[in-house]
Amino acid sequence: MARSIQAFLFILIATKAVSSNETFKGNQMYQSTKQTKYADDATDSSSFDEKENGISNGPKLCIFRYNKKKEMVCVCKAKRKSDQITLAEILKYMGKTYMFCTSLRFEHFKFETLENGSFDGFKQLSQIFLFNCSVMEIGRDAFKSNSLLTQSNITIKIEMNPIRHIKPGTFDVGKSWKQLSLCQNQNLGTENIQTVFNDLRNKTVDRLEIKTCGIFLRELDKSFFEPLRYSRITKLNMIGNSYGIVTSDAFEPLGAFLQTLVLWNFMDVQRDTFGVFHKLRGLNIGGLTVTRSSYARHLHLHNMTELRSLSINMEGSRVQAFDMSGLEHLQLMQLTNCGYEFGAHINQVIRLLNTTKSLRLIDLSDNSLCKYTDRDLCQIFAGRVSLYNLLLKDNYFTNLPTCMFKGLYNLHYLNLQSNLLQVIQKDLFEDLHQLTKLDLSQNAITFIDSSNLEMMTPFQGFMKLDIRQNNFDCNCQLKSLRNWLTMKIMQKGYKFKYKHEKCSFPIYKQTEYIHNFTMTWLECNTINVVQVSTITGSLVLIVTIVTLLLLKHFWKDIQYRKMIILARKHEQDVNIDGLLIEHDAFVSYHSEKQLWVENDLCNELENGLDIKFKLIYDDRIMPGGSLFTSLGYAIHTSRKILFVVSRGWVKDGMNQFEVDMALSKLLDDYRDMIIVLLMEHIPKDEMPDKVKMIIKHNNCLRWSNNEKKQAKFWRDLKLELGKHHFEIPIQDVSY
Ligand SMILES: *[C@@H]1O[C@H](CO)[C@@H](O)[C@H](O)[C@H]1NC(C)=O
Ligand SMILES: *[C@@H]1O[C@H](CO)[C@@H](O)[C@H](O)[C@H]1NC(C)=O
Ligand SMILES: *[C@@H]1O[C@H](CO)[C@@H](O)[C@H](O)[C@H]1NC(C)=O
Ligand SMILES: *[C@@H]1O[C@H](CO)[C@@H](O)[C@H](O)[C@H]1NC(C)=O
Ligand SMILES: *[C@@H]1O[C@H](CO)[C@@H](O)[C@H](O)[C@H]1NC(C)=O
Ligand SMILES: *[C@@H]1O[C@H](CO)[C@@H](O)[C@H](O)[C@H]1NC(C)=O
Ligand SMILES: *[C@@H]1O[C@H](CO)[C@@H](O)[C@H](O)[C@H]1NC(C)=O
Ligand SMILES: *[C@@H]1O[C@H](CO)[C@@H](O)[C@H](O)[C@H]1NC(C)=O
Repeated sequence: MARSIQAFLFILIATKAVSSNETFKGNQMYQSTKQTKYADDATDSSSFDEKENGISNGPKLCIFRYNKKKEMVCVCKAKRKSDQITLAEILKYMGKTYMFCTSLRFEHFKFETLENGSFDGFKQLSQIFLFNCSVMEIGRDAFKSNSLLTQSNITIKIEMNPIRHIKPGTFDVGKSWKQLSLCQNQNLGTENIQTVFNDLRNKTVDRLEIKTCGIFLRELDKSFFEPLRYSRITKLNMIGNSYGIVTSDAFEPLGAFLQTLVLWNFMDVQRDTFGVFHKLRGLNIGGLTVTRSSYARHLHLHNMTELRSLSINMEGSRVQAFDMSGLEHLQLMQLTNCGYEFGAHINQVIRLLNTTKSLRLIDLSDNSLCKYTDRDLCQIFAGRVSLYNLLLKDNYFTNLPTCMFKGLYNLHYLNLQSNLLQVIQKDLFEDLHQLTKLDLSQNAITFIDSSNLEMMTPFQGFMKLDIRQNNFDCNCQLKSLRNWLTMKIMQKGYKFKYKHEKCSFPIYKQTEYIHNFTMTWLECNTINVVQVSTITGSLVLIVTIVTLLLLKHFWKDIQYRKMIILARKHEQDVNIDGLLIEHDAFVSYHSEKQLWVENDLCNELENGLDIKFKLIYDDRIMPGGSLFTSLGYAIHTSRKILFVVSRGWVKDGMNQFEVDMALSKLLDDYRDMIIVLLMEHIPKDEMPDKVKMIIKHNNCLRWSNNEKKQAKFWRDLKLELGKHHFEIPIQDVSY
């Protein structure tokens, strides 16, 4: 005992000297007069007198301050093992100042037993709060201090303690109660709670909380709350216990006064259970545990005409229908965690919205609303002018129809957190001029059309925007959002709450922020540049190809024109190739082509309009000497040799002599001087090898019966004939 007191004092003194200012906010009296003296006494742990004069408060354990009503609030917390001392010890060393605590609060101690008369020393105590203090036993007279017995509107909260037994009469204190809270004392159980209720009989209790008190009732009926019939309870929270059937008269003793009820964890509610609440303004239901019974369960919520706030958490429940008619004054409606079951209630919700014009808050989070059509969604939300707050978290939305928020001119708060939204398209928030809080966090948003935000002209320029944990793509499109954010952050007199968010894409911009990421002109116009250059490139290519094609097509015509011009000039020059050359071409043919040679060939080449060539063939050779010598001479004095290849020509040994002559001349001149005119189709295997060779290695022109092709044939033939003949001289002339 003595050791623990010493330890306690040591803590007090040691810590006092270090940080007196922070812990003693509001206790001017103490700081000004006693501090130095106390420090001097630091080594003298036996001088109790000083402490009893009201100066021995442990700064680490207790602090006190004054609340708005100028009442003294004393708070003691155990923060480490050495802080664990008994209640009596704490009270003993608190000193006289603390006798004036109105509110006393202990946290994390290990009191175990609250002795009789524990709080006798306090003069004005009206509130006791014991949180996590390992209280197991409470002496029957523990709270029976003078002040608590005689005060009105007392408050006792005993939370998170393993209390096992409460003796009758323990809570028979106070003239009236402001609040009794016995939350999270899981060992209490139904019987102890009933004992407490009996103590409160005929006492006014404004607020009663029996959350998680280990209450288990197969049937919650009238008898449970009967002792509190005259207590005029207005707020009751009974979450976290287990109730089977809640009978229709269960709340009858409380019905006339109850204003707020939190009722969770029950299996079934009888039809008229809620019918007794004529003053109920807030109802919070949840944890409707699934039963084995398969009958349709209805929640009859009608008749509660005063209801302002209705919260139903449907997680794990199997309620199949609500009756929410008549809730005309409802202002707040939360129907959450239905998942896919929401379909069963959608019409009821729409009907409620149709009839209740005062709804200011709707929370339909976690109802898988993503599976409804755009039309359904717009029918639920669009045009609800009275709406102030709209919460649609966890609904798996990937996109929202533009008509959804139409006409919500008074919406102040919109929460779309934790969906899968990707794009906030233009005009989606068009009508939300009043929005001051917008939560789009935890989606997959890559882009927000900034016009949506620009529309908003919230009251007094306050705005809170949360876009954290998305996938923003910091590209050029996003520049207008960036600019808007920058403007809002910089703008003076505009209260803009915004947590900085970084870019997600492109990867190399992940260190940049959405509100000030950089974007060069080229990055923004890459697409344009690429497009323009692609188009230009392909145009150039096309033009080139067309030009080349045209050139190819008309190349020979051009050459031909050129040659004609050269030929005209050439007419004046005389026989530049040397005296030997007398003819432009020697024609070798078979007699079956004699007509063609004399008529077509000679006509075309010798009497042509533009160029004239001189031909020689056997019929024209002057007799004189042997045929062979004159033939040889004719061939030698010709610039070119035309082989008119026909079947007959091939068969007849193809004028062996002429061919040999030609070949020998070829060897002399090294010139491509042979031109083959294929007059008809001759299969290759019918040709002798020599002919094949000639065809393969020399210019070969095909005759055709088609007139157009014939024109080409003549042009090409003339080109070949004129080839070296008209080109070389030009160079000579230029010398
Ligand atoms: C404590 O308060 C005094 C006077 O109120 C002040 O001068 C001093 O700086 C404070 N010390 C600390 C650590 O805040
Ligand atoms: C309750 O108090 C004990 C110390 O007595 C502490 O270890 C524990 O963390 C506290 N629990 C809570 C929930 O604060
Ligand atoms: C507390 O007071 C009650 C009633 O006066 C008495 O019966 C009980 O024995 C007392 N408990 C202790 C531990 O003194
Ligand atoms: C107790 O509380 C009620 C309601 O809050 C109030 O009307 C009454 O004046 C209070 N009584 C005292 C004595 O403070
Ligand atoms: C409580 O009040 C009712 C009605 O005012 C009265 O009939 C009853 O006797 C009272 N009970 C107690 C224990 O005072
Ligand atoms: C509740 O409303 C129904 C009609 O919906 C009515 O018949 C019944 O009398 C009402 N009950 C109470 C207690 O007002
Ligand atoms: C709600 O009102 C709209 C328009 O007034 C109407 O088309 C719709 O049928 C109503 N829905 C219900 C369920 O009452
Ligand atoms: C962008 O904003 C962040 C956060 O305000 C800041 O740290 C950073 O320096 C800014 N970057 C540029 C380029 O202005």
